[in-house]
Amino acid sequence: MEKIGIIYWPKGGSVEKVARKIYERFDKVNADIYDILSIEATDLVNYDCLIMGGSTVGAEIWQEAEANNKWNIFFNELDKLNLKYKEVAIFGLGDQILYPNNFVDGMALIRDEFEKRGARIIGNWPTEGYNYKDSLADEDGKFIGLAIDEDQQADLTDGRIDSWLAQLKTELNG
Ligand SMILES: Cc1cc2nc3c(=O)[nH]c(=O)nc-3n(C[C@H](O)[C@H](O)[C@H](O)COP(=O)(O)O)c2cc1C
Repeated sequence: MEKIGIIYWPKGGSVEKVARKIYERFDKVNADIYDILSIEATDLVNYDCLIMGGSTVGAEIWQEAEANNKWNIFFNELDKLNLKYKEVAIFGLGDQILYPNNFVDGMALIRDEFEKRGARIIGNWPTEGYNYKDSLADEDGKFIGLAIDEDQQADLTDGRIDSWLAQLKTELNG
């Protein structure tokens, strides 16, 4: 069995809730869970597959290269690593009704940071069943990772996680 690292930010809201739901579904010897402040980037080498989770809360969170931006600090740390061929799956929280033009955009930023360092992104997800206009995470009609909407479709979250993890296990063994 591959060793899985589940890594998320921010703490205390829907992203953490979903990260914990994902963690619960793994055998504990095969998976660990961290928020991005609780793991050194160099420890990521211990994992065969990373499941990265984030939300979308406005462009400024992502685009300002401020020293206190937690994701930017984390991404810069990744430069110390060899991520070539490391498998990375992404989940992203968003709200398709309030933010229909930027639904789960944040997943694309996580994807870009890992992909430019050579990681292999796995776990794309159908866009059927969501109601949004545009998303940076929609690539050729598929989300680049699991889109979760706890604000508008919380009742679908558990089923989506189950299906996505079943799919990931197939992709990891394939
Ligand atoms: C200020 C603000 C901006 C947001 N912008 C977006 C957005 O652009 N796209 C989107 O899909 N969701 C957006 N959301 C919704 C959040 O991504 C969603 O509520 C998510 O579940 C929050 O996760 P958290 O509770 O872990 O912070 C925004 C929420 C807030 C409060």
